[in-house]
Amino acid sequence: MALSAAKCPSSSAAAARLSLGHPSLRSSTLLRPFPNSARARRLPSRSFKNWNLSVVCKQEAGAVPVSSSAEETPSKNVENGGLFGLSSEEYGHAIGLDASERESTVSITVVGASGDLAKKKIFPALFALYYEDCLPKHFTIFGYARSKMTDAELRTMVSKTLTCRIDKRENCSEKMEQFLKRCFYHSGQYDSEENFAELDKKLKEHEGGRLPNRLFYLSIPPNIFIDVAKSASRSGSSKDGWTRVIVEKPFGRDSQSSAALTRGLKQYLEEDQIFRIDHYLGKELVENLSILRFSNLVFEPLWSRQYIRNVQLIFSEDFGTEGRGGYFDNYGIIRDIMQNHLLQILALFAMETPVSMDAEDIRNEKVKVLRSMKPLQLEDVVIGQYKSHTKGGVTYPGYTDDKTVPKGSLTPTFAAAALFIDNARWDGVPFLMKAGKALHTRRTEIRVQFRHVPGNLYKRSFGTDLDRATNELVIRVQPNEAIYLKINNKIPGLGMRLDRSNLNLLYASRYSKEIPDAYERLLLDAIEGERRLFIRSDELDAAWELFTPLLKELEERKIAPELYPYGSRGPVGAHYLAANYNVRWGDLSASETT
Ligand code: NDP
Ligand code: BG6
Repeated sequence: MALSAAKCPSSSAAAARLSLGHPSLRSSTLLRPFPNSARARRLPSRSFKNWNLSVVCKQEAGAVPVSSSAEETPSKNVENGGLFGLSSEEYGHAIGLDASERESTVSITVVGASGDLAKKKIFPALFALYYEDCLPKHFTIFGYARSKMTDAELRTMVSKTLTCRIDKRENCSEKMEQFLKRCFYHSGQYDSEENFAELDKKLKEHEGGRLPNRLFYLSIPPNIFIDVAKSASRSGSSKDGWTRVIVEKPFGRDSQSSAALTRGLKQYLEEDQIFRIDHYLGKELVENLSILRFSNLVFEPLWSRQYIRNVQLIFSEDFGTEGRGGYFDNYGIIRDIMQNHLLQILALFAMETPVSMDAEDIRNEKVKVLRSMKPLQLEDVVIGQYKSHTKGGVTYPGYTDDKTVPKGSLTPTFAAAALFIDNARWDGVPFLMKAGKALHTRRTEIRVQFRHVPGNLYKRSFGTDLDRATNELVIRVQPNEAIYLKINNKIPGLGMRLDRSNLNLLYASRYSKEIPDAYERLLLDAIEGERRLFIRSDELDAAWELFTPLLKELEERKIAPELYPYGSRGPVGAHYLAANYNVRWGDLSASETT
């Protein structure tokens, strides 16, 4: 039984989806569809003043279907009343509406549309939202990049990566066709206000006089973020709706460059217009962390140094940097994964109970954790780099075999670290992180190892290794999403033999619904103005403050990474590091690797 309304529920849900657009340029918010949901209640009552209301996801309300692309095109609008070409205000007056009653529209511009991320993640996520009727009724998608492309060419490019949910295939190709008709392309330079003004003109045509809201997704290398922020804010922002900008990582390479990037962006944007994406925060099981902890009485009382012996955050990929070596060599695994994805999970895991689930309340608690972290010591870090390995007649390349990687590069492709939070809840508890490419498996997990049972009556049944008998909670973020708790159990029978068993919540067995991609959740949040899963600038500063001194020391002292074979379990140094704190990596225990 569902405990609360789901996001974009299936069409059987009777609720109409409401989207609320605030007329102010910089800080408006759209509301999730459920007026009675926690999210809806979070909005301060003053927010409702002057809000414009439009119904989207009409199929869910059992009303008319979401309009087809044809209904969105300017020509249709002209036919429908000749209002196209008016400013949104004039349009409103012409049809007798004031700003609070005008229908709104969202234009999503994917900047860097010709790139890998746009093709692999952003367009497919937008399509999935469309497929699930989660996009507003009136929306347009524009691709923007320097490459020359026609609308038709963009559509052909995008169509190659669109897929439908496996669990719901109805009308898939029809929906794809409708979606593609709402995708357009404009070619331009990133630093050209003139080119953005041309884009603005096209966007206006599609907005058809409705209250315009605009979302720019910067799917481009970071050295051009500021150029685009400048051009988009000066020539492409909405005049009376909201304008938001999603910024992809990396947000700098260290404290200094990150601060410079933030300063640069803030010349043109307010903080609440900037949506810094960390796609790990959009993963289903990461979002579920707070629910698991704060809505189950059995977990929250255990969530401290009193019961938890150590916490492990593990990221491993079974492929190397293939194709991204050029980017990667400038960053390395600590900046690529630890400083953002794993640290964000750690902050969510360890935070105190927030006052509410409001974005600011949660981010306030996360930043407190980050600022309470003990400075990272070099001796608490192990770095590695994969080398070539031949297995079953196949030779897998080493990191430096990649032509885009400089010979002799010392960039780590693996790192393990022991971190500590200097606060009353977590004092002395090691938070061990491990992240690596070209390892034996692809997996992201949060492992919580609990303390030994004091005065355990069954101690004798466990032999000398009490660690093996401690409870462990595993949150497997991916793949095969699962939450399981390792317990000790009596083997049925007349004897008294114990074994380790799992209380297992395997998502694939429990839930028939396909798990949405992280980018879907985050794009929807950005459209709706929900900032909870995006990184605030003080969080970013605190994250860099933790890692910058270590990164500097590693680079200045030219510390050589320990080599590990492609496809192996990583450097042995990681085991010694864990052993220093009496920890064993849970993912490498016999029961997990068989
Ligand atoms: P790409 O390198 O594919 O760049 C995207 C587009 O930007 C290109 O198609 C190109 O478009 C333009 N571009 C590339 N290099 C330059 C340059 N030096 N100067 C001006 N324009 C340039 O990047 P991705 O799509 O892989 O990634 C986009 C962003 O997302 C990056 O910040 C990346 O770090 C981040 N990211 C990517 C991930 C991925 O899996 N790919 C994962 C997580 C984050 P054109 O030439 O047509 O203008
Ligand atoms: C990105 C990193 O942020 O996350 C990549 O830059 C990494 O190096 C990727 O491969 C992993 O994301 P996911 O969602 O595939 O686990």
